[in-house]
Amino acid sequence: MAGQIPPQFIDDLLTRVDVVDVVDARVPLKKAGKNLQACCPFHNEKTPSFTVSPEKQFYHCFGCGAHGTAIGFLMEYDQMSFPEAIQELADLAGMTVPTTSFVNAQPSRQNLYDLTDKVSQYYVHQLHNHPQKTAFVNYLQQRGLSAQIIEHFNIGMAPDGWDNVLKTFGANDQARKQLDEVGLLSSNDKGRQYDRFRNRIMFPIKDRRGRVVGFGGRVLDDSTPKYLNSPETPLFHKGNELYGLFQARKANRKLERIIIVEGYMDVIVLTDHGITNAVATLGTATTPDHLRQLLRSAPELVFCFDGDRAGREAAWRAAENAMPLLGGNHQLKFMFLADGEDPDSVVRQQGAEQFNRLVGQAQNYSDFFLATLEAQVDISSMDGRARLIEIAKPYLRQIPAGIYRDMLEQRLAEKANTNTAMLHKHLGKSAENTVKKHKKPLKSSSAISPIRMAITILLQHPELHAEIGAFDKLASLERAGLTILVQLLETLSQNPHLTTAMLLERARDSEHEGHLHQLAQQTLTLSAKELQHELTGIIQQLQQQAIEQRHAYLVAKGLGNLTDEERIEINSLNS
Ligand code: CTP
Ligand code: MN
Repeated sequence: MAGQIPPQFIDDLLTRVDVVDVVDARVPLKKAGKNLQACCPFHNEKTPSFTVSPEKQFYHCFGCGAHGTAIGFLMEYDQMSFPEAIQELADLAGMTVPTTSFVNAQPSRQNLYDLTDKVSQYYVHQLHNHPQKTAFVNYLQQRGLSAQIIEHFNIGMAPDGWDNVLKTFGANDQARKQLDEVGLLSSNDKGRQYDRFRNRIMFPIKDRRGRVVGFGGRVLDDSTPKYLNSPETPLFHKGNELYGLFQARKANRKLERIIIVEGYMDVIVLTDHGITNAVATLGTATTPDHLRQLLRSAPELVFCFDGDRAGREAAWRAAENAMPLLGGNHQLKFMFLADGEDPDSVVRQQGAEQFNRLVGQAQNYSDFFLATLEAQVDISSMDGRARLIEIAKPYLRQIPAGIYRDMLEQRLAEKANTNTAMLHKHLGKSAENTVKKHKKPLKSSSAISPIRMAITILLQHPELHAEIGAFDKLASLERAGLTILVQLLETLSQNPHLTTAMLLERARDSEHEGHLHQLAQQTLTLSAKELQHELTGIIQQLQQQAIEQRHAYLVAKGLGNLTDEERIEINSLNS
């Protein structure tokens, strides 16, 4: 999508607008050295770790990792789509977005969102008007849902029948193709298409911005599958989506805590009882992606699971995925309900107050972590305590170095009846290496790979590319990160005036996006002159290595076996 708005237009736009103005209008900034600062709008904090760089034209939060350009900020803060953010900035700068490419850029995605939205409205409409609605209405009533909550979550019904949606929304081939693309159709062996959701209560799944990206459908009786969800589609990736997050963010100006439960119904019934900060994963484990989104939305996460074995296992999986995100300004907790209960049943039978009390008693991450490990060994024996350390090792390594890990190690040492010095001896060096990379200032190329260094310098000081000399042979080398470096050099030689922010925008939606953002906010301690020297040196060295490698290859092939072109080439390499 990003690729279809001319990159030059985005470059121009980023030249005209200042990320400082864009952010400052929403989050007042204070000067701090050559950057500006504020408390991060994307997570809760008391001391500012959100920085905006006028020079690089982007923002970065050292607390939660949020980052981006002016465009990214609008998308994240105002929850705009990419085209909306472009439009907003263009208005601000008095520029006109080139309409032809712009209009062409959008329809596929936008049409799909329009379609899922219309189908969602259709399901809601059926619940009010369909001749067979009574069974559905009764079911929802019997589950104790109020009319307001049914409306709040846009709950609807898919009537029985093979082609209700197909007939209503699939008038022609293209329309049917789109229905299929958003996962609303199934097909039999003969390729015949029919409605995926039939005779089910329908729950639209909204993304963070409130767009319908998929559906969950529940049967009215105990036939199976109980829930049917949309398949993975261009709009819907269940590892990214959290049911209820949009509603929770909307209901709370600032979320202090999010409760993560297992089911649609749990979210809905909790909300109906005034607990408006619950979300559910969609029949999957909590992914690292879920966790990042959640931590951006609230400082405290409470995972609520069934007390049975499956619940404990799901909790442990969530705990494992959370390890690289531990520490910092947030808190993770776990709560377990009695066997056979879920939040829906607890809140209905025992009330919101009791549920909140249980949330308040949730177990700390560290308690849960240590208790789970301890349960696997016999802590009363020396062998058991040694084993405790052994099984904790691989986990501790994943936790970012810092006060949190130190304290957790301290507690582990106490449990094992040893001390942290002894513990460290056994944890090995790698435990020290997991410090979040962006927190280490880059001093010289000896600390990191030369290619990484070159990319970092180019990203942060694109103007330095002008003096680097030849790099035409580089692409033939096989090294990690080389493709990125070559791409960067080529982009800059074609567009010599690109800035850091422009380069980052060009990487939007590419596989390198995250990596480049990370390098863009590394601290470079060398002077401009030293950086130039460093960069030129690295490129020259790589170019030289490429030449030698090619030369060796041609020589190995044997002079007699070379083509005319290769003969010319080897001569030129010799010179
Ligand atoms: N789930 C699913 N497919 C199933 C069963 C469950 O995708 N066949 C997912 C759904 O997201 C569901 C969650 O797992 O909400 C939890 O499952 P379960 O505890 O069985 O569902 P409840 O939400 O308790 O459903 P209900 O109360 O309606 O029986
Ligand atoms: Mn349930």
